[in-house]
Amino acid sequence: MSIKVLFVCLGNICRSPTAEGVFRHQVEAAGLSERIHIDSAGTGDWHIGKAPDPRTIDEAAKRNYDLTPLRARQVSATDFAEFDYVIAMDKENLKNLKAMQPADYQGHLGLFLAFAPEEQQEEVPDPYYGGPEGFTLVLNMVEEASQGLLNHIQEKHLS
Ligand code: 4NP
Repeated sequence: MSIKVLFVCLGNICRSPTAEGVFRHQVEAAGLSERIHIDSAGTGDWHIGKAPDPRTIDEAAKRNYDLTPLRARQVSATDFAEFDYVIAMDKENLKNLKAMQPADYQGHLGLFLAFAPEEQQEEVPDPYYGGPEGFTLVLNMVEEASQGLLNHIQEKHLS
């Protein structure tokens, strides 16, 4: 049986696809692709079916992550039946997810940066309306938190 991880942001075209791509890369490097299943989704519906934002794709490509195959989808209450970890990028995402979480959900619903103890911030900031530095910041935060999440899952479920 595999551990299933869902990353969630607002549009599913910037932060959560970055998390999906970076975390998948780290999981593959650790030889755990068969044990950890990864997906991402957005709380909003504006970008359903679209590839990640070109700025997100370009930033990730600088560090050799290929996000081009990803397509946006909207999160739904049924995702809680499938995913052991539902990871929100910011507090607004978390609030919306808590509102749709079934009362009997046994998995982990929380903020991504809780897995990055060195990080001063609690949230991965939405880069959509900002400049290029926002996309670099997202990628830095995501790389750090992904490693923390992978360590956590390995210790808790796979050791
Ligand atoms: P994301 O960024 O939540 O990291 O994918 C956004 C993408 C699109 C919008 C907002 C945030 N939007 O308003 O369309």
